[in-house]
Amino acid sequence: MALEYNNNFTSHNSLVHVGKGFAYRPTPPVAILVWSHSAVNRRKSISIWFPLRRSVLRASSRFESRGCSSSISTCQKVIWNREMESSSTNNLITTNHLRHVESMATMPSGAGKIPHLNAIILGEALASEENDLIFPSDDFSRQAHVPSPQKYLEMYKRSIEDPAGFWSDIASDFFWKQKWGQQVYFENLDVNKGDIRIEWFKGGITNICYNCLDRNVEAGLGDRIALYWEGNEPCLDGSLTYSQLLQKVCQLANYLKDIGVKKGDAVVVYLPMLMELPITMLACARIGALHSVVFAGFSAESVAQRIVDCKPKVVITCNAVKRGSKVIHLKDIVDAALIESARSGVCVEVCLTYINESALKRGSTKWEEGRDIWWQDVIPKYPTTCAVEWVDAEDPLFLLYTSGSTGKPKGVLHTTGGYMVYTATTFKYAFDYKPSDIYWCTADCGWITGHSYVTYGPLLNGTTVVIYEGAPNYPDPGRCWDIVDKYKVTIFYTAPTLVRSLMRDGDEYVKRYLRKSLRVLGSVGEPINPSAWRWFYNVVGDSRCPISDTWWQTETGGFMMTPLPGAWPQKPGSATFPFFGVQAVIVDEKGVEIEGECSGYLCIKNSWPGAFRTLYGDHERYETTYFKPFSGYYFSGDGCRRDEDGYHWLTGRVDDVINVSGHRIGTAEVESALVSHPQCAEAAVVGVEHEVKGQGIYAFVTLVEGVPYSEELRKSLILIVRKQIGAFAAPDRIHWAPGLPKTRSGKIMRRILRKIASKQLDELGDTSTLADPNVVDQLIALADK
Ligand code: WTA
Repeated sequence: MALEYNNNFTSHNSLVHVGKGFAYRPTPPVAILVWSHSAVNRRKSISIWFPLRRSVLRASSRFESRGCSSSISTCQKVIWNREMESSSTNNLITTNHLRHVESMATMPSGAGKIPHLNAIILGEALASEENDLIFPSDDFSRQAHVPSPQKYLEMYKRSIEDPAGFWSDIASDFFWKQKWGQQVYFENLDVNKGDIRIEWFKGGITNICYNCLDRNVEAGLGDRIALYWEGNEPCLDGSLTYSQLLQKVCQLANYLKDIGVKKGDAVVVYLPMLMELPITMLACARIGALHSVVFAGFSAESVAQRIVDCKPKVVITCNAVKRGSKVIHLKDIVDAALIESARSGVCVEVCLTYINESALKRGSTKWEEGRDIWWQDVIPKYPTTCAVEWVDAEDPLFLLYTSGSTGKPKGVLHTTGGYMVYTATTFKYAFDYKPSDIYWCTADCGWITGHSYVTYGPLLNGTTVVIYEGAPNYPDPGRCWDIVDKYKVTIFYTAPTLVRSLMRDGDEYVKRYLRKSLRVLGSVGEPINPSAWRWFYNVVGDSRCPISDTWWQTETGGFMMTPLPGAWPQKPGSATFPFFGVQAVIVDEKGVEIEGECSGYLCIKNSWPGAFRTLYGDHERYETTYFKPFSGYYFSGDGCRRDEDGYHWLTGRVDDVINVSGHRIGTAEVESALVSHPQCAEAAVVGVEHEVKGQGIYAFVTLVEGVPYSEELRKSLILIVRKQIGAFAAPDRIHWAPGLPKTRSGKIMRRILRKIASKQLDELGDTSTLADPNVVDQLIALADK
């Protein structure tokens, strides 16, 4: 068979011409032919991809001008493989739970439906607006843990049909003082059948700190770097090997025990990205105490609220941190929080304070004798070994507060065994982790990403992790790539908001650095828009690194939907397919599962080891928020579209939660801060599209009768939100509202507010059901005031 290099492929045997650059055989396509054209080396290449065998046959030829034709002999090897068609394809499609991947077996079956499908292969060319698919290269797939869709299907099928066997096999790689009981897991996700309960490996006795550190040291990794620390100032850095990290963790663990912190006690941690933050988390885990890390951007009032909720004996902080050129006095914030919590009857006995000399000298820190202790004065005196507190797999590991649709944050509680197995496994597969990797995740340990994928997941795998104290654009927007080159980072995991902001700063800052070490990129926190995806892929990754767009949540503990980079083609902006053991379904508003190509609410139909077990002190809220909306399912709060190829596209929150720069903020939290201002009568907050942050916070504010609008008042309203929640929650816009659009029963119609905020005035819809439809015109008139 001869193929010609022009825009009209000729049809031969089973391959049929479909238009520019793509040929396929209709039903069912098991081999697809792709041509790509690299402007850089003036080569065109043709690749035939066999999804089930995960092999690509490629031929390329130099071309001089458009329309020049040349025969490619290797293409004669392209044959329709009937054996593949009849055996593996059909065998794989059996049960209901594999529905979402049915199309993968004949991938990309939707090709026929995509009229101008273009595709490229990793490392071969730039991803352009027209590329719908990016294929893993042979080289990448060959070395990957999951090298083909077929392998994924095999593993996925087992994980669903035999979860107990699948996860027990993986769990056996960890150290258990005592193996779990007969029943590997228990789940009830249906409120009609009793209390919601999820348990994994119950009866198994282990310790996650032991598995992160001691186990790796004993396996001979003692001298491997566990943490590289890069300070805010480019000249400041440090590192700890696995053995050194273990010693530091033991010293702190001994101190905590000494001051009376016991198994089950909570420890509140308010630290920036110093090595002391993962050290503290691990020390708590070692002695069975629960850490409750509060992101060091939260205000004193938010810290106080969390202290009151979990009543810790000790708060661990540092005197200050420098982010960019700004010094933030963290200890002052904690001092204010401790006064506030004492007013609510919760007195913290000890405030352990690390001296972060580069930000603030010891002598300049405000101090309360008797309560405040300098870390450096006490911790180094403690022994560098510390016995492990062995805990049950279902004993709590940590609390992490996250925003919901009411004003009160939710204390998400994770337990030990399942979380350990799940974070380690998701990390290994989603990033295709290898022992030679150097991994950098830009997330702060104050968020779930810093728990699961800075600390636990990577360390459980014996990874060398880079952590960075400062701002990603300090001293200039090239800093990230400077760090990548300095530590030879191979896996770089970040948030779309950072990608967009660096993209805006221009390619030049990226291209100044080599970035040769990079091999896998990752994205998390919000949907990544295809143009940011392409920039990340083309410019940062030089079109050679797959991007793992990982969808998950504080509640899920680990990745739920993620590309497995060696297994399948990627579509810019899609989180692709569910991870092993996750039965992701899309339901309509009545809770009925929808098949095939559709949009709806993303739910999970089964339990997975990393799932949260309750909301701290409020199991009822846990059931009501997550399990009552759709009986029998975990409701994620996210909307999702599934395309014709079975790929999943997250479309954002469907509840009253806004995602600002990947941070979850409840509209109710911002509203309650605004209405606490004496001159604010009412407030309604909605999310609007924001070029860099993903979503911005847009607040409609009704003032107390007779109070005039003023710039000063606008500023003080923003200030009150900064003070009560934190700077990251400050509204981007205050829109004066003489009244709010409400139904006759008094419910605010946010749909209308969202349209006004995003200036989609021709899409306001029916406003006749409003108690006072004139309100809408008034709001529109005040839009630019
Ligand atoms: C959103 C962060 C699309 C989503 C790990 C989710 C995403 C919320 C993605 C959880 C992604 C996170 N694509 N949306 N890859 N990752 N989200 O609890 O709306 O801070 O519900 O956990 O972030 O935010 P959380």
